[in-house]
Amino acid sequence: MSVDDIVLKTEELYYRYPTRSDYALINVNLDIRKGEFVAIIGQNGSGKTTLIKHFNGLLKPTRGRVIVDGKDTRGLPTSELARSVGYVFQNPDHQIFAETVKDEIDFGPKNLGFPPERIEQARQRVLAEMGLQGLEEEMPFQLSRGQRQRLAVASVLAMEPVILIVDEPTTGQDWRESISLMELIYQLNKKGHTCVVTTHNMNLVSLFARRVIVMWRSEVYLDGTTQEVFAQVDQILRAGIKPPEVYELARRLLPDVRLDRPIIPEDLAELLVKEREKIHR
Ligand SMILES: Nc1ncnc2c1ncn2[C@@H]1O[C@H](COP(=O)(O)OP(=O)(O)OP(=O)(O)O)[C@@H](O)[C@H]1O
Ligand SMILES: [Mg+2]
Repeated sequence: MSVDDIVLKTEELYYRYPTRSDYALINVNLDIRKGEFVAIIGQNGSGKTTLIKHFNGLLKPTRGRVIVDGKDTRGLPTSELARSVGYVFQNPDHQIFAETVKDEIDFGPKNLGFPPERIEQARQRVLAEMGLQGLEEEMPFQLSRGQRQRLAVASVLAMEPVILIVDEPTTGQDWRESISLMELIYQLNKKGHTCVVTTHNMNLVSLFARRVIVMWRSEVYLDGTTQEVFAQVDQILRAGIKPPEVYELARRLLPDVRLDRPIIPEDLAELLVKEREKIHR
C-alpha cells in the first residue's frame, strides 16, 4: 500500500472546546486507508464524536492537522468536504430538518448539483436500501426513532460519499435493525467505500470491523486489527469497555481451552469444530 491510499490522516491532533480548559483530543495520530472498515470505541466522553467531527470539517484542530483525501481541512469549507465525506450524526434529530422524507433525501444531492435524474435515482436507491419505500411524503418527525436513524443514513448515502462516517448507528434500533444497518454499511465497504463507525455495541464491532481504535481519556489508547485489540482484555477493561460477548461465550463453551489468543466469532466456530473433532476421534 502506498501513502496515496491514505484517505483520512490526523497529525498531532489536539482539540479543546472553546468553553473548556481541558483537551477533548490529545495528540491523535491516525492513518486510515481507502477501503478500511474501522470501529472507534471507548467509554462515554472519551472523544469519539469529537474525533470524527474533524473528518468532515465540522470541527477544526486546535493544534495539529487533519488531512482528508490529501487536503488539509483547515482551509476547506464543510460543503467542499461533503463531496467525499458523508457524516451521519449520533442523534438523527440533530441532522434531519426537512418537511418530508423526500426533501430530506434530495437536499444533499441537490446541493452537490446532481442533475434531476441522478437525484431521482439516488432517492429510489437509498429508500430501497434503507427500507423506507412508500414514506417519501411522510413528515420525518412522525417516523419511528429507528426509521429516523435510517433516514439520516439514507440522506447521506444519497450523496454517494467515498468515505462514510457514522456516529453510533445503533441508537434507537433493535438488534435486528442494528445488524441490517451494519450489513448495509458493510456492503458499501465491500464496494470500496471507507467506513468509520463509532459504537458502544461490541458485538457489532466483533462482527463487522476489521480495525478497532480505542479512545480513552481523549487519547488513542489501542489501535489494531479487531482480533489484536480484543486480545488485550486487561487494557480493554481498563478503558472502561466490556469485551464482546463472544469471549464470555467462548469461556463457557470451552472452559478448558486457554483463551490466550484473539477470539472473534469465526475463531470461536473454528475452536468448537476442533474440540468436536477431539471428542469424536
Ligand atoms: N460542544 C461541546 N462543548 C464542550 N465540551 C464538549 C462538547 N462536546 C463534547 N464535549 C466534551 O468533550 C469530551 C469528549 O466528548 P465526545 O462527545 O467526543 O465523547 P464520545 O466518546 O463521543 O462520548 P459518547 O460515547 O457519549 O458519544 C467530553 O468530556 C465532553 O463532555
Ligand atoms: Mg459520541
